[in-house]
Amino acid sequence: MFENMTEEEARKQILESVDEYCRTYHNKRKPFEPGDRITYASRVYDSDEMTNLVDSALEFWLTSGRYTDEFERSFADYLGIRFCSLVNSGSSANLIAFMTLTSPLLGDVNGKDRRVRPGDEVITVAAGFPTTVAPIIQYGAVPVFVDVTIPEYNIDTSKLEDALSDKTKAVMIAHTLGNPFDLRAVRAFCDNHGLWLIEDNCDALGSRYEMEDGWHFTGTIGDIGTSSFYPPHHMTMGEGGAVYTDNPLLNKIIRSLRDWGRDCVCPSGKDNLCGHRFDGKYGELPVGYDHKYVYSHFGYNLKATDMQAAIGCAQLKKFPGFVERRKENFAHLTGGLKSAAKDIEDKLILPVASDHSDPSWFGFMMTCREDVDRKSVVLKTEAAGVQTRALFAGNLTKHPCFDEMRGNGKGFRIVGDLANTDLIMERSFWVGVYPGMTKEMLDHICMAIVEAVK
Ligand SMILES: Cc1ncc(COP(=O)(O)O)c(C=O)c1O
Repeated sequence: MFENMTEEEARKQILESVDEYCRTYHNKRKPFEPGDRITYASRVYDSDEMTNLVDSALEFWLTSGRYTDEFERSFADYLGIRFCSLVNSGSSANLIAFMTLTSPLLGDVNGKDRRVRPGDEVITVAAGFPTTVAPIIQYGAVPVFVDVTIPEYNIDTSKLEDALSDKTKAVMIAHTLGNPFDLRAVRAFCDNHGLWLIEDNCDALGSRYEMEDGWHFTGTIGDIGTSSFYPPHHMTMGEGGAVYTDNPLLNKIIRSLRDWGRDCVCPSGKDNLCGHRFDGKYGELPVGYDHKYVYSHFGYNLKATDMQAAIGCAQLKKFPGFVERRKENFAHLTGGLKSAAKDIEDKLILPVASDHSDPSWFGFMMTCREDVDRKSVVLKTEAAGVQTRALFAGNLTKHPCFDEMRGNGKGFRIVGDLANTDLIMERSFWVGVYPGMTKEMLDHICMAIVEAVK
């Protein structure tokens, strides 16, 4: 097959075949017919992603390499932030983001000990995804849960001052289903009290928020932002995530934690870029101990592969278009529901964008009014072929993973009550707005929901 070909020519031929294979056998969508299942999310891709993936596989570098470098650079450029580190999931991104705050490199900042230590408190919410909170508990810090508002489904910032104690070191929360939380209030609260802010941006990539100095992407206003590239998310690489920051010290810690805890910053396969590999003095090691194997943190290995990054590079080029489609689909559902049933808002609370925000929606969240039974609405909507989702944990503190802590009342705090969080657990559900949805699918979703709440 490759007779008389150079390696480059052989590679080109393979990639042309992959391109044709993808065009022939993937993405052949038949027109939507009522009864077809409408999932809440799906990958949107074409032969660009597949050829990039195979190109990287043929190179067989496997670990982070040239596609990772390209992805990290392009992703940071897109967000307008200085540093981005690719990791293997959004949960890993959250783990690194939180653990970064525990680094011994974070000593006093302006006379205040900024380092998070076991027993310190982190303000968060219970209405969301568990791995926003899990790293706090795993480390032995204390999550302090604050209620959320409906219909924004984000932290109730009027409760922030009540949540503060002399142990508070950080706020770590997600932008729920793409809707930005009140970044003006949360950023000001953190600045006033010298707290770190981690934005879990896993469900909000492409959302923008207007601060006093202008518009910014969510994930770039806090000290650290995180993303997920799991298939249902705004863009995908199968499994994958990112941690990003503008702060060089935080970036140094993020890199160290991601890459086994090492002190050296040489990328995989490179040695001695600084020229001082054998002449430094670290800890109680002998002078000149190989810097490649000097550890400044107890770290992990949470890198992604270059094959994942290769898919991500192709997705990123399409990404601004994905965001526009998500916004259009959200607007279509809002308009469609309101025009299909004049009384829809007597039955369901519809979602609303937070003030000062331009959301890149992950989903379309609804809460059943008191006399509407969520279970019946969800079952009917699902029976009409429309996949529904709960707001992840609903109220995380009610889950079995909390049994022990709830039992002995230790290891977490709740500020006031979590009345809206419980309401979400009992009465909310959401449907998708992913970029591959057609007008026909969106109209069918509206019809299914209107029928279900009758
Ligand atoms: C808000 C939020 N944070 C974190 C994650 C975890 O991302 P991953 O599935 O890539 O670990 C998710 C997952 O869906 C999420 O919704």
